[in-house]
Amino acid sequence: MSKIIVAIDGYSSCGKSTIAKALAKYAGYTYVDTGAMYRAIALFTLRNGLTEEAAIIAALPQIEVGFVQVDGAQHVTLNGEDVEGQIRTLEVGNRASQISAIKEVRAFLVAQQQKMGEAKGIVMDGRDIGTVVFPKAELKLFLTASPEVRAQRRYDELVEKGEKPNFAAVLADVNDRDYRDTHRAESPLRQAEDAIVVDNSNMTREEQMHVIYGLFDKAVNH
Ligand code: DC
Repeated sequence: MSKIIVAIDGYSSCGKSTIAKALAKYAGYTYVDTGAMYRAIALFTLRNGLTEEAAIIAALPQIEVGFVQVDGAQHVTLNGEDVEGQIRTLEVGNRASQISAIKEVRAFLVAQQQKMGEAKGIVMDGRDIGTVVFPKAELKLFLTASPEVRAQRRYDELVEKGEKPNFAAVLADVNDRDYRDTHRAESPLRQAEDAIVVDNSNMTREEQMHVIYGLFDKAVNH
């Protein structure tokens, strides 16, 4: 059976990575979380006090983003350091949303992502995978859920991590990030024309996976 590329795009906190990971396992494919790559660069800029666009662009050659497997889970690395535990905060997420609007940052990461997909057999999630990174992906999914449902999911995740979030602030953050992700000049989040939309506001994880495994089987046997 020939291998395909699965591109999964959608808003923040709509469960893309959970779905992408489960699908990669089901298919025996490699999973790539491109949001983690933007977050790793964001962490680099925070650590080094880089705020100016020109300074961030000038620093790109000193930044190496990669992945390692730790106990069966994928962790992102920044210049060889496992930074998985430091990138899933609101601060890093917001900075990631800002730096991902810079054309040169996108070109830097898109080139690496395209290389990762050369051999196919990959499930990649992000914002521009079906539109820019792999416009010819055999299966494109666009995930959505209402802002309130996504804010509740993010709120629960933060509580689980021991943080004490405020729901209104988390919802405002989800709305701000949606706005930035969809209105930036460079590769804004949008649905590819040939993407299949999955709105999971009212679906259990099992229901979603049933639908998505079905779509995958169909795409592979096409
Ligand atoms: O999916 P996430 O929340 O981890 O992504 C963090 C930020 O990175 C998000 O605000 C948008 C940006 N991003 C992007 O612009 N393009 C991608 N392919 C993935 C993420």
